[in-house]
Amino acid sequence: MKITIIGTGYVGLVTGACLAEVGNQVYCLDTDQEKIDILNLGGIPIYEPGLESIVKRNVAAGRLQFGSDVAASVEFGEIQFIAVGTPPAKNGSADVQYVLTAARNIARHMNSYKVIVDKSTVPVGTADKVKDAIRQELAKREISTDFSVVSNPEFLKEGAAIDDFMKPDRIVIGVSDERAADSMRRLYQPFQRNHERMIVMDVRSAELTKYAANAMLATRISFMNELANLAESLDADIEQVRQGMGSDPRIGHYFLYPGCGYGGSCFPKDVQALRNTANECGSGMRIMDAVEAVNETQKVRLVDKVNRHFGTNLEGRKFALWGLSFKPNTDDMREAPSVAIVNKLIAQGATVVAFDPVAMPEARRMFTGINGITFADDMYQALEGADALIIVTEWKEFRSPSFAQMMQKLISPVIFDGRNLYEPEWLHSNGFSYYSIGRQVTKSESAH
Ligand code: UDX
Repeated sequence: MKITIIGTGYVGLVTGACLAEVGNQVYCLDTDQEKIDILNLGGIPIYEPGLESIVKRNVAAGRLQFGSDVAASVEFGEIQFIAVGTPPAKNGSADVQYVLTAARNIARHMNSYKVIVDKSTVPVGTADKVKDAIRQELAKREISTDFSVVSNPEFLKEGAAIDDFMKPDRIVIGVSDERAADSMRRLYQPFQRNHERMIVMDVRSAELTKYAANAMLATRISFMNELANLAESLDADIEQVRQGMGSDPRIGHYFLYPGCGYGGSCFPKDVQALRNTANECGSGMRIMDAVEAVNETQKVRLVDKVNRHFGTNLEGRKFALWGLSFKPNTDDMREAPSVAIVNKLIAQGATVVAFDPVAMPEARRMFTGINGITFADDMYQALEGADALIIVTEWKEFRSPSFAQMMQKLISPVIFDGRNLYEPEWLHSNGFSYYSIGRQVTKSESAH
């Protein structure tokens, strides 16, 4: 099939590359000429494992092309995916102006039936707005071409996006007519695997499904974080509680990991947008209010622990920080807990030496002009002369480090672990003071 993808951001690029991979002809449109040039030269503007090779292979095979010609892109695809950004507006609602601009551009150039697919995460009711915008533009041109608007939310996890797209758990399709449903069935046939993955529903329900899924996952995380804090007060161990809870199949083990809060481009934005929608409806959603509030305090929970150990005046203290991205396998630092932690430590007079396997260029950009943070060449260099280590992201290389090197390089053997990577008892018996999330504190004899 011939497909156009509008927007070569994270979602657009992954969608375009994966649809080309199964044999479709794909045109990816972006107004950012610099980005288009990078892509046409085989470069990938984002970090996502496996994406570069798929893009290169499909560009070479002539199935995937990048351009900025709107008229050509509309002419090209029988299916037009809108995958542009929906940044949060000031009041927390998702701003759909780029989605509507893309829809109008399609209508200005289309001369035959098109299926227009909302891939961006958009508030419930956006498909209707897209439909209206297209109708208005067609009316201006005095053209009565048929079209369908479909909602097809994405469920891609950063760092695992290719797998999520190629082997989806479910493909949610919101349609209001059979013709569009047929097109979408044909398009997604190669991804069905052994059994039906497609859930066809009405458009508004599909739009809500995306928010519902992310809000549910964020709720589990905030629930576990609050429970972990309670476990600390009760001298219980959240890791044991988590295993006990998760083995109930109705609960399951996924997304029960306490830590230093959720971040990224989806959960914070989607929780806020859902709250906003609920407020607009007059009902509000008290659970989501709590989920967000808990997350905000959880992000700096490690600093509270630092303060309990070192006091609140951190003047002259230096901290090593491992992990800057909001989770492993990405360089994305949007809403990352590391940002809140670094800012708070610096505000209390400390300096930070950070290391992250891939996110340091992004971090350098984000912290430009901020004094108090520097970056180390490797994870052990970050420890040199530091008062303590703070772990924020659970990159694989942090899971079994050389504790001997840690002991040697840190001024005092103190670890604040926001991801519960190590065994408290073992660290204790090896002379470390170890603070983690929801587990008993273990203090070495030599700790101050
Ligand atoms: C998420 C959804 O998983 C995906 O389906 C949706 O399309 C986009 O949003 P992503 O933001 O890439 O994907 O990351 P995810 O792996 O879901 O993690 C989100 C955040 O939750 C991270 O900050 C992570 O550290 C945190 N998290 C996750 C926890 O704190 N505990 C957990 O048990 C799981």
